[in-house]
Amino acid sequence: MRASLSCRPFHAAFYLQYCTYFGSQMHECTPIAQHRILQEDLSISPTQQYGGRQHRPPIPPPRVLEYPSSTPPELITQGAEGRLYKSSYLLPSVPCALKYRPPKPWRHPVLDARLTRHRILSEARNLAKCSREGVSVPTVYAIDENAGWLMMEWVAGGPVRAAINEWLRRRRDAERAEGRSGDAIVEGTREADGDLVALLRRIAAAVGRLHKVGIVHGDLTTSNMMLRPWERGKEPANGYNEGVDGLLEGDIVMIDFGLASQSVSEEDRAVDLYVLERAFASTHPRAEKLFTAVLEAVYRDAFRQAPIVLKKLEDVRMRGRKRSMLG
Ligand SMILES: Nc1ncnc2c1ncn2[C@@H]1O[C@H](COP(=O)(O)OP(=O)(O)OP(=O)(O)O)[C@@H](O)[C@H]1O
Ligand SMILES: [Mg+2]
Repeated sequence: MRASLSCRPFHAAFYLQYCTYFGSQMHECTPIAQHRILQEDLSISPTQQYGGRQHRPPIPPPRVLEYPSSTPPELITQGAEGRLYKSSYLLPSVPCALKYRPPKPWRHPVLDARLTRHRILSEARNLAKCSREGVSVPTVYAIDENAGWLMMEWVAGGPVRAAINEWLRRRRDAERAEGRSGDAIVEGTREADGDLVALLRRIAAAVGRLHKVGIVHGDLTTSNMMLRPWERGKEPANGYNEGVDGLLEGDIVMIDFGLASQSVSEEDRAVDLYVLERAFASTHPRAEKLFTAVLEAVYRDAFRQAPIVLKKLEDVRMRGRKRSMLG
């Protein structure tokens, strides 16, 4: 069924309509529910799909996920540009993440193919460089830039964003239980803040390592960093594993290198830090000040030019402020 669908030519307008309809449904669902929608849509008859107004042609997963050796793909996220599936690589016991950028019907097909190829190749190159240089990123397993996919190591754990938000939520609940408002800024001075400060230090060190090897990420956010839990007995011995509940324990693994580039320019690095600072402030406003302080302190020692980058960061912030004042 999937194979016949992928070969079937269909009308671009229908396809665009489908994406709009399907996209709005996807937005409101959990990843598992999203996957179910995909499966249900794939199981309806072609007559229903093309004849009725209710159903429009689906975007099938890439053919590589149909190989019998792969475990059934699970749709993890559906973004504006692409999809992330969990499947397996070579053996069912080796989980992998498959990032797929399906064709965009609203773009000219030649331009679309070129852009997709470029993004996939650039992401794979930057990931490979990071792996070679010892920066913690998923290992690239396979790539088909013409089919629009990149297969990489599955990173256990969840995004850093979710872990920090959960930590902040628990802290707020605890404060409310003590009769306080729960909206207090996290200063990082209480003993219980130690695990958050340690995590922020690991984030800053990871960004420093990335810049040191000559890569700017282009989209640094806490959603594009995973927190890979430490294996039992392999926790670092340098005091990082003192978290009370283990929520914030683990290594930082950078992901999503679709907008990354190779650069050693201080300006580019400063803009990368600024993007992270702004993203952090809007996602975790109560810990914004603490993050800025930790970032500056830890990044400064990451590599020789880091103090110059931090100086540039002040200029970039100033430009950002002027721009927001002018609207
Ligand atoms: N290697 C991986 N292992 C486990 N989960 C992953 C992996 N890569 C991505 N994910 C999950 O999928 C989500 C989306 O991945 P990613 O950030 O690469 O895609 P995206 O933001 O849609 O990409 P882009 O901005 O390049 O279009 C991540 O937030 C993470 O939860
Ligand atoms: Mg992302």
